[in-house]
Amino acid sequence: MKNKREELLEMRAKALLGGGEDRIVAQHKKGKLTARERIHFFMDEGSFEEIGAFVQHRSSDFGMEKQKFLGDGVVTGYGTVNGRLTYVFSQDFTVFGGSLSETHAEKICKLMDLAMKNGAPIIGLNDSGGARIQEGVVSLGGYADIFYRNTLASGVIPQISAIMGPCAGGAVYSPAITDYILMVENTSYMFVTGPNVVKTVTHEEVSSEDLGGASVHSTKSGVAHFTASNEIEAIQKLKKLLSYIPQNCEEKAPDLRYDLTDESRPKLIDIIPDSANQPYDIREVISEVADEGSFFEVHKDFAENIVVGFARLAGKSIGIVANQPAFLAGVLDIHASQKAARFVRFCDCFNIPLLVFEDVPGFLPGTDQEWNAIITNGAKLLYAFCEATVPRITVITRKAYGGAYDVMNSKHIGADMNFAWPSAEIAVMGAKGAAEIIFKRQIDQSENKEEALKAKEQEYADLFANPYRAAERGFIDAVIMPEETREKLIKAFAMLENKVVNLPKKKHGNIPL
Ligand code: HXC
Repeated sequence: MKNKREELLEMRAKALLGGGEDRIVAQHKKGKLTARERIHFFMDEGSFEEIGAFVQHRSSDFGMEKQKFLGDGVVTGYGTVNGRLTYVFSQDFTVFGGSLSETHAEKICKLMDLAMKNGAPIIGLNDSGGARIQEGVVSLGGYADIFYRNTLASGVIPQISAIMGPCAGGAVYSPAITDYILMVENTSYMFVTGPNVVKTVTHEEVSSEDLGGASVHSTKSGVAHFTASNEIEAIQKLKKLLSYIPQNCEEKAPDLRYDLTDESRPKLIDIIPDSANQPYDIREVISEVADEGSFFEVHKDFAENIVVGFARLAGKSIGIVANQPAFLAGVLDIHASQKAARFVRFCDCFNIPLLVFEDVPGFLPGTDQEWNAIITNGAKLLYAFCEATVPRITVITRKAYGGAYDVMNSKHIGADMNFAWPSAEIAVMGAKGAAEIIFKRQIDQSENKEEALKAKEQEYADLFANPYRAAERGFIDAVIMPEETREKLIKAFAMLENKVVNLPKKKHGNIPL
């Protein structure tokens, strides 16, 4: 037995070294942690249990039978994060560049199956040169096995991808199907075709970083929801993200203990400027209303005209969607609609109540928007709100104009409670634009056109630039003082805690993709 025990210990020690010490040194030199170090920092201390440490590839082409490494380039297992069961796979770049072989894929699939059966999140720490080139189509099959499971797991358990090195070719599509992508600045990149192929096909010269680095994907493409300046920060962000979300679609997110005290927030009184055209930062409203320091923004640098993220309200996790008047006046455009729609759908999948702050002048006009399908994309957000069955509350802080009024979680599309501040203006359009259209003839015929327009503008504003016409109809449930907002929301969400909605039976809807 002694020899057998020693043999096991030796194999364990060998598995821990992955592709060997030299390659570990090379990994560190690039400013990257190893697959195992990442797991060590991510999981609660001592909680990680590895699965498949002795798996080896079955390939024999190109002399591969002579190059075998225990674990075959991916460390898989389970443990706890913030005390809750979590599955993790971490690609080991020191073994064939973390490339995905048939067996590497099998390990990931086994873990995904376990995560699905046991209802807990799965996190992928990606650092891979893509398909194991020596294995050919077998490796491509392995990717497809993962994509299929990603799709089955979507909406059942949270799936999160951290990109901590290369992620190229079809390999990008597994992270893309998962709920969130986090990229590490300067050491990670994602693209379908790399700089060399780009140069051959389009003659563009571009670096990996400029083509698919963290900065590009967090600002231009919106592929990445989060970035981190280094791997430790990335791991902290993953843990924080997990703290707001439940284990699976049957559960609710964990509450933090909170004892109610004086919940009035007088600072909210002075945030809205006197002039309706002056911007303000909606994050100021969010941070006053939410539990102190709890707002965790998603997609922070992408489509900044809408702000989305998680927060806590009296200890309970909520999702916030808010127009941002400080950026493009908070207008809804293609990217903002896509960003918010995806977030709304995530919250709805995982029973996270939604809070909307509305200050929106409408949809962005122009050929760029129309030709790139603002119609289809705006409809995504509309559809996402309409189908969401979680508790849904809207607070209109200022403008709620046109179609955007309907889209931004209006009463008509299923919001449960709709509040408005006294500064709310709920109308088909702004008073000036409205007066110019409906009083065009009178204005044209008057001697002083400017004054006539002003008078008509005032007339329209007096009638509609307020929350009371909507409140008369019951489209607004209550007009509230800004400082009362937090207290009203805490009470309303508590009232909605056991909300049940049964949607019409169907296979699945057909969201305008
Ligand atoms: C097998 C690979 C590999 C791969 C890297 N390696 N990529 N082995 N299959 N895909 C090995 C290298 O041979 C090397 O082995 C070690 O990993 C480290 O690689 P280096 O090139 O030395 O590292 P670095 O300079 O950091 O460059 C990393 C890299 C580069 C940019 C990822 O290795 C690279 O371009 N690899 C090929 C990427 C690629 O074309 N993959 C296929 C994409 S198509 P040694 O023994 O020297 O340590 C694809 C399709 C997926 O993935 C489709 C899914 C549907």
